[in-house]
Amino acid sequence: MNLTLHVWRQSGPADPGRMVKYEAKDVNAHASFLEMLDVLNEQLAERGEEPIAFEHDCREGICGSCGFMINGEAHGPQRGTTVCQLHMRQFKDGDVLHVEPWRAKAFPVIKDLVVNRSPFDRIVASGGFVSLATGSAPEANLIPVPKALADRAMDAAQCIACGACVAQCPNGAAQLFTSAKVAHLNLLPQGQPERYDRALSMVEAMEQEGFGACSNYAECEAVCPKEISIDFIARMNRDYLKAKAVGVLKSPLST
Ligand code: SF4
Ligand code: FES
Repeated sequence: MNLTLHVWRQSGPADPGRMVKYEAKDVNAHASFLEMLDVLNEQLAERGEEPIAFEHDCREGICGSCGFMINGEAHGPQRGTTVCQLHMRQFKDGDVLHVEPWRAKAFPVIKDLVVNRSPFDRIVASGGFVSLATGSAPEANLIPVPKALADRAMDAAQCIACGACVAQCPNGAAQLFTSAKVAHLNLLPQGQPERYDRALSMVEAMEQEGFGACSNYAECEAVCPKEISIDFIARMNRDYLKAKAVGVLKSPLST
C-alpha cells in the first residue's frame, strides 16, 4: 500500500517545529508502524536527510518506550495496543496519516516524536515503592494475598508509563498513570503501612510537575494500551482525601 505521512519534525526543544510530508511507497501490510518508519528512515538516510527520531525498545508492548499520536489518537486507532504492536494492515491504501509527538505541557518535545517523560519518574520516586528492612527475601507465602486483590493490583501494575493517557487528555492530566502506580501497591497487604502517605505524596508530586486537573473526560482510559480503568482514579482520590483530612501520616489509618 502507499501512504502519505505528515510527520512532526523538530530538531530540538528550541526549534518551533513543523509538519513535513513524506510518501511511503509499497508499505508491507504485515509491518508494524515502527517498522514502516524504519524503512522510511533508511530512505531518508540514503538521501542524506535526517531520520525521524522516535522512541522504542521492546517492540512487544511491554516497556512503554514507544508512543506518538496518529491522526489525533494516542498509539493510533487500535484499542489496547501500543504503537509498536500496531500493524499497517489497520490502514488502507491511500490513507493520509498525521504523526505527532505527545502534546502536553508537562512532556516537552526533545526531538521529532520524542518527548521528555521524566515527570513520570519523579512521581514514582515520590512514593511508588514499599519501605522494607534489608535482608534476605521473605518467604513469598508468609503474607497471604486474596485472589481478588491480587488480580486488581495486577490490573493496575500493567501500566507501562507510556504517557498516552496524558497526551490524549484535553487537560494534559496524569491521573490515570498516577492512580495506577498508587493502586498497584495500595491494594496489597505489603502496601498498607504507607498507603495514605503514598497517595498524598504521589498526588502532590503529580501536581508539582504541571499536569492538568482531571475532569472525567475518560479519554485516558479509551487510549490506554493496557486498558487501565478510571476506577483507579476514584480509589486514589479517596486515599488522598483521607490523608489530607488527617494530615501527613506515618502510620496506617483504619479503613
Ligand atoms: S495508564 Fe495507560 S496510557 Fe497511562 S501511562 Fe499507564 S499504560 Fe500508558
Ligand atoms: S517499544 Fe516497548 S512498548 Fe512499544
